Amino acid sequence: MKILFIGDIYGTLGRQMIQENLPKIKEMYKPHIIIANGENISHGKGINEKYYKFLLEQGVNAVTLGNHTWDNRSIFDFIDEADKLVRPGNFPASNPGKGLTFIKFNSLEVAVISVQGRTFMPMINCPFLAIDELIKEAQKRTNIIFVDFHAEATSEKVALGYYVDGRVSACVGTHTHVPTADERILTKGTAYITDVGMTGPLDGVIGVERENVINKFIEGLPIRFNAVEQGSAQLNAVLIEVNDKTGKASSIKRINLKKESSL
Ligand SMILES: [Fe+2]
Repeated sequence: MKILFIGDIYGTLGRQMIQENLPKIKEMYKPHIIIANGENISHGKGINEKYYKFLLEQGVNAVTLGNHTWDNRSIFDFIDEADKLVRPGNFPASNPGKGLTFIKFNSLEVAVISVQGRTFMPMINCPFLAIDELIKEAQKRTNIIFVDFHAEATSEKVALGYYVDGRVSACVGTHTHVPTADERILTKGTAYITDVGMTGPLDGVIGVERENVINKFIEGLPIRFNAVEQGSAQLNAVLIEVNDKTGKASSIKRINLKKESSL
C-alpha cells in the first residue's frame, strides 16, 4: 500500500497548491491513501468545516492537526462529527475530538494517529505515554499505523521515531514547516522523517509575512501575524510504501514542489 502524506497546508496558497498539484501527484504516484496536516489551512490558524470538506473533496482521506487545533473556534461546531479529523491524542482527555481514526481501503484499514510534542511547546500530556495507548488501540484493528508527530524540537521527534520503531508503519514530523532530508526506514521497519515541510507560501517566514516576523524579532512588541496570500508557493509531502500484511514500511520518498512567482 502506498500512503501519501502532505505537510502542513497553510492558507490560500496552500489550498491552491493542493488544487493545482494533487491531481498530478495522484496520477504520477498512485497513492492508495492520502493524509494531510490541515492545522494551518484557515489563514494559517486552525481549520473550519468548509476547508475540512475541501480536503476530503480533493481526495484526502484523513486530516491531522496540531497546536493550532482550537484557533478557529468554529471547529467546536463540527469536530465531534468530523470522523476523519484527528487532533493530537495527548491533549486533555476531556477535549472534543479524538487522536486516532481509521481509514478503510478495500479489505484493509489504516490507523491515523496525531500526537504533539511538548519541548518548546505548551505543556500537554506526555506524547510518549499517550502514543503507547493509541498504538495499542490501533493494533486491535490493523497493522498499518500512521503517526503525525507535530513537534518543534528535532531531538524530541527523533526520539519518538525510535520509540515507536517497529510498532507503527510510519512516523512523520510536522509543525516546523521546513522539510528535513533525513527520511529513512528505521531498523525495525518504521518509515521516518523529522519534518515533511509545509504546503503554502514559499517566501514568508514559515507562512507569515516576513516583515511581521522580522519586526517581532527586532522590537519584541505585540504584532499581528498575517498569512502570505500571494506569490511563490511550495508543496511538501512524502510517499511511503507499506507491506499490507506486516505493516512494515519498505520506502519513504520526499516530494518537494515549488511554484516560483515574480510577484
Ligand atoms: Fe503547528
